[in-house]
Amino acid sequence: MWVYLLTAALLLAIGWFIRDREKIGDVKDKYVFITGCDTGFGNLLAKRLDWQGFHVLAGCLTQKGVDTLQRSGSSKLKAVLLDVTDSSSIQKAADWVQAEVGEKGLWGLVNNAGRSIPIGPTEWMRMEDYFKVLNVNLIGLMEVTLTFLPLVKKARGRVVNVASILGRLSFAGGGYCLSKCGVESFSDSLRRDVHYFGVRVCIIEPGFFKTAVTNLEDIENDLQCRWARLSPEVRESYGEKYLEKYVKVQKFTMNAICDGDLSKVTDCMEHALTASYPRTRYAAGWDAKLFWIPLSYMPTVLSDFMLALLLPKPSQSVR
Ligand SMILES: NC(=O)c1ccc[n+]([C@@H]2O[C@H](COP(=O)([O-])OP(=O)(O)OC[C@H]3O[C@@H](n4cnc5c(N)ncnc54)[C@H](OP(=O)(O)O)[C@@H]3O)[C@@H](O)[C@H]2O)c1
Repeated sequence: MWVYLLTAALLLAIGWFIRDREKIGDVKDKYVFITGCDTGFGNLLAKRLDWQGFHVLAGCLTQKGVDTLQRSGSSKLKAVLLDVTDSSSIQKAADWVQAEVGEKGLWGLVNNAGRSIPIGPTEWMRMEDYFKVLNVNLIGLMEVTLTFLPLVKKARGRVVNVASILGRLSFAGGGYCLSKCGVESFSDSLRRDVHYFGVRVCIIEPGFFKTAVTNLEDIENDLQCRWARLSPEVRESYGEKYLEKYVKVQKFTMNAICDGDLSKVTDCMEHALTASYPRTRYAAGWDAKLFWIPLSYMPTVLSDFMLALLLPKPSQSVR
């Protein structure tokens, strides 16, 4: 009995492995649009898809980003200015993409643009701090998706949304975890709604990687600003040493687990765009696979305990 079960499991695993490696045909007539290509994952993905022969259409937040990226690629790599928080900028980029792809439609839309700060204890936040992050990571992603969807539908293509393991487990206050949790939810609804039209939706869940999003100096400077504007009572409840300890935790997390190999994330994005059977979710990085995702499935009491071990306690803590 056990032998039959084990054989069936082994055959299923081999079948899945073979199916997972099956590729779509020629990519040379396929167009992919990526947001947030100035730096980080988006920048690397644009270059790698260009090497593979895709027509790459890259959205950059700055003119410097546009110029640098265009200079670094082939004539099939084209870049455009795009601020995902600005509806007219999104519409302009969509019109440009429509003119580029013509009747072929858009094979891939990669929603990668994002920002992380302000992050910090929830009580230190104001509503405008949440809007700063949510407007880029969630509302911007939703507006770009809705605007570009007709082009993706035409090509029966793919939407690849960059979430985070922090969309599963809220490690820090501020808009970041909230926005990534929203990306997970939006992508799940979208996937169920558009699969009828042959459109596939994939979610990328990276762990911690060394990019501008995890830049310690920016995070520390921002935390100093948030601390400085707290009322004396709130500051006293945390204690004078709290900020220092909180910054130390951030330093420890970033230095200990931030991975410098960004290709672990772009490999997942490439699989989502080139596999015949793309996966629904991709965990990128060992910390995501071995720590964050398993922890997200644990009972809340256990994940709260683990995260409390990492974060400092306020001086007036009653527990
Ligand atoms: N690094 C990590 O550990 C990690 C982990 C999980 C998920 N992620 C996600 O991965 C994605 C890419 O981030 P990254 O790590 O590669 O960091 P990154 O280098 O900072 O890339 C983010 C890109 O988004 C751009 N951007 C910011 N605001 C924008 C706006 N309003 N409109 C258009 N573009 C905008 C940035 O432009 P500027 O450079 O000009 O500001 C930058 O090029 C983000 O969604 C991030 O949340 C990162």
